[in-house]
Amino acid sequence: MTWLTCYDYSLATVLNNTDLDMILVGDSGGMVVLGYPDTVPVSMNEMVILSSAVRRGAPDKFIVGDMPKGSYEVSNEVAVFNAMRFVKESGCDAVKLEGGAVMAPRVKAIADAGIPVIGHIGLTPQSSAAFGGYRVVGRNSRELEDLKNSIEELSEAGAFAILLEAIPPSIAQQLKDTSQTILFGIGAGIHTHGQLLIIHDLLGLYPDFRPKFAKCFIPEVIDEFSQSLKANEDVSLFGKTTRKDGIHEISRLAVDEFIRQVKLGLFPDSSYSYKD
Ligand code: KIV
Repeated sequence: MTWLTCYDYSLATVLNNTDLDMILVGDSGGMVVLGYPDTVPVSMNEMVILSSAVRRGAPDKFIVGDMPKGSYEVSNEVAVFNAMRFVKESGCDAVKLEGGAVMAPRVKAIADAGIPVIGHIGLTPQSSAAFGGYRVVGRNSRELEDLKNSIEELSEAGAFAILLEAIPPSIAQQLKDTSQTILFGIGAGIHTHGQLLIIHDLLGLYPDFRPKFAKCFIPEVIDEFSQSLKANEDVSLFGKTTRKDGIHEISRLAVDEFIRQVKLGLFPDSSYSYKD
């Protein structure tokens, strides 16, 4: 399965016309769109604005709203209230929240309110300060047991899928082999059931920080794009009879290439995965 982040109307229209399975309106939008240094300051109101725009651009896609820091930790009531905002104000289909077994009661409360929930474990950027910064998780036996336990508790609580972030591929494989839950990965190697990528990484749009797993797909589609421009000899038609002359079209090609490589098991290869 293929999953990409998105935070605005125009790129959402690109995604709506592809075979992508799901969209995440991630709180990473706080960094790549709003320019915050990390995801901590992102507010619920900002997430509602971003996810509403994505819904307008991608009416046909399954959209997951990412619950920002402070919108779910305090109590089950606060968590359900804010999850409901994603559904009612933005038209999201599901929500995602960060945290392991300790967040199981929040997941249960949201799922019981009729909102599909995805868990997010491994590297959890909202609380990275408490866990020694942005780092790979699961290499020691205590962390591996924690991950297994979290998958069990979050699934039991009602999470319909779990995202693994920054986990060595062989550990992600063990987690898959020992659970029945749908596991997505970002920086978790090739073995998960689905892959998530930040769209600004896929397009090479965010220069500040590029983690190991962040593959830019533009170099692999640039030839195809320039061939299609050359095939259209009359440049005065660009933007008139064809709109396939710019960023929208090259983004579509890059997204299609991401989908193709994930489906064929070509991405992420070892150069975009952490070492075991
Ligand atoms: O906000 C986001 O895009 C995320 C990914 C980094 C997993 O949660």
